[in-house]
Amino acid sequence: MRVLFIGDVVGGPGRRGLKAAMPELRERCAPDLVIVNGENSAGGMGITEKTAKALFDAGADAITTGNHVYRHREAYEFLDRAERVVRPANYPHANPGRGHMVVEAAGKRVGVINLSGAIGLTVARSPFHEVDSILERIEADVVVVDFHAEVTSEKVAMGWHLDGRVAAVFGTHTHVPTADARVLPGGTAYISDVGMTGSRTSVLGVKPAQVLEAMTTQMPVKFETASEDVWVMGAVVEVNERGLADSIEQVMMPAPVG
Ligand SMILES: [Fe+2]
Ligand SMILES: [Fe+2]
Repeated sequence: MRVLFIGDVVGGPGRRGLKAAMPELRERCAPDLVIVNGENSAGGMGITEKTAKALFDAGADAITTGNHVYRHREAYEFLDRAERVVRPANYPHANPGRGHMVVEAAGKRVGVINLSGAIGLTVARSPFHEVDSILERIEADVVVVDFHAEVTSEKVAMGWHLDGRVAAVFGTHTHVPTADARVLPGGTAYISDVGMTGSRTSVLGVKPAQVLEAMTTQMPVKFETASEDVWVMGAVVEVNERGLADSIEQVMMPAPVG
């Protein structure tokens, strides 16, 4: 089976870009399962029921998130109820939403685990201990992980920690794709960051002039989502009968303008 993972979809431009690109993505990647990180899908930060629905309508089968997941208060009740949306598992247990899910694809039970890095981000528990604990109890044939983390050392370490135990570790959060996609010796597909789905005429999705103003003046500036030159970024993994990866291929394509 083939799993397509798409990096952080930023705002309306990202949502529309993903939808427009999906027919070509399906042709090129032939995915059995499409997982999309939606933590920036609502106005560039956070997720709402409406933007989650837009991602599902665009072709997502499951949605992961990250540190911006609780930006919109009205989404909390939705996160508790949504069976195909996850937030980092190593957040406080009582927080809205769930940290992992099991979905059906190509006749397999696919576990999708969302974790947050502990370096430079706020967590309740170590992502390493958290994922060990989930892997002990999850009932799945194949497991994939979205590791939403800031620092490449922690991400690479997670790849080695999970090598041979999950099909794939997809890094997210930095919005900048890395050139290190590979299958580790134990059979786990790994990439430090798949990148984002949004405007390339931007700083991580935000209009460059606004970020430059903030960085040069150190004054508060209202950030708006950039909309030019939208690209879709992700990675596709071929999963074998043992629940491990045969290959990983990075996906980076301009969204068709329509
Ligand atoms: Fe993000
Ligand atoms: Fe993030």
